[in-house]
Amino acid sequence: MDDLIYKKAVFYVMSGTGNTYRVSRWIEETVNRDKTETKVVMIEDADFNKDFNHSNDLLLGLLFPTHGFMPPWSMIKFLFRIPKRSDLPVMCVATRGALKIGSLHIPGASGFAAFFAAIVMFLKGYRVKAIFSLDMPSNFINFHWGLHPKNVDKISKRSQHRLKLLIPRIFNGQRILFTRNNLWEILWCVLLLWLVPLLPIAYLIIARMFMAKVMFSNNDCVGCGMCARNCPNNAILMKKIGSKKHPYWTYHCENCLRCMGYCKKKAVEAGHSWAVLLYFITSIPIISFVWVWLHEALNFFPVKSGYLTIEAVYVFNFLLYIVYFLSAVFLSYWIFWYLIRFPFFNSFFSLTTLTHYYRRYHQPETKVKHLVSKKNKSADARDSSVNRKAAMPS
Ligand SMILES: Cc1cc2nc3c(=O)[nH]c(=O)nc-3n(C[C@H](O)[C@H](O)[C@H](O)COP(=O)(O)O)c2cc1C
Ligand code: SF4
Ligand code: SF4
Repeated sequence: MDDLIYKKAVFYVMSGTGNTYRVSRWIEETVNRDKTETKVVMIEDADFNKDFNHSNDLLLGLLFPTHGFMPPWSMIKFLFRIPKRSDLPVMCVATRGALKIGSLHIPGASGFAAFFAAIVMFLKGYRVKAIFSLDMPSNFINFHWGLHPKNVDKISKRSQHRLKLLIPRIFNGQRILFTRNNLWEILWCVLLLWLVPLLPIAYLIIARMFMAKVMFSNNDCVGCGMCARNCPNNAILMKKIGSKKHPYWTYHCENCLRCMGYCKKKAVEAGHSWAVLLYFITSIPIISFVWVWLHEALNFFPVKSGYLTIEAVYVFNFLLYIVYFLSAVFLSYWIFWYLIRFPFFNSFFSLTTLTHYYRRYHQPETKVKHLVSKKNKSADARDSSVNRKAAMPS
């Protein structure tokens, strides 16, 4: 690695539970040994004018986790915010969730995630030099158990080793595009497009509408507000219930699971029993009731009597369902939030939730302060100094 082509690098990072942040630090360690000037910037702190202010030997890195085979919402928005630039080389990296069961290593699948970033950057005039996805211990613990530390270590070591081989090649100017790893991701893309063509887009919407609305804090929550302060999307409001404050999840949550992974009291749950109930509430065949009512009250047969075409009835049904779905999700969460303030209901939903029994996950070497945007940190410092002043006797 004597004559590296890229002597400088800026890595823009989005990371929920620290995996992607750690990967950016591992890359930094690999190239810093050869005196490359690197900078890791959380996407909330990006300052394009300052960061891009260098010479031809700069490589731009975009690193983010996979959420439902796509980049997370905040990363997608960030990609669209990046200014157009001609010819700046870029590397797109998606971390993905791997599992290990005994000696069996189950790789994750990033699907469209890294390709999506690469296409946006290409359309903005950047030179896409490398696209790859990297296995990290899966943090998706609202869907499966948290990995044992031994398995976390094994998956991480494997990825570190892979980076040691890959990164020098990229910094030496080799293109990393047509690889076995990308073939694996293309196979996933083809499979998904064939099975459920709109899955990635549907996931982005459903996760936002549904998954955030099953999060709650259990009776162990002490109302410290750490989850709210460290949320990358400011998606948690601390609301007063009785004598203490509790976190309330808003629609800004994109399910990065930082709050769940870093809560010291293990108090953040993704309510499975509540999700099942919510599923039934939102899938009540409301349209059938409406048609039966219209028929009984008004003797209304729209298709038969020629008032509406069958297509118009379908569109009406669909719109009605959307209106019902949105109001049902909204109202149910409100009722749910009211119920969980009572220890009995809170215990019921906690004990019937699998996350209650799962180990939590965050990347072991990464502290939450590493992930929090500098802006948030300074706002926090300001707040606490104001609070300290307010607490001082006058
Ligand atoms: C909501 C959500 C969706 C996920 N979807 C996928 C996926 O589609 N494919 C995959 O391989 N991993 C998936 N994962 C796992 C993460 O991408 C993976 O663990 C990643 O390394 C987490 O990085 P972070 O700690 O930087 O947030 C998902 C995780 C979450 C929380
Ligand atoms: S959920 Fe955890 S981090 Fe959030 S307020 Fe409660 S105890 Fe604090
Ligand atoms: S509320 Fe929790 S899961 Fe949602 S975006 Fe914030 S930290 Fe991530």
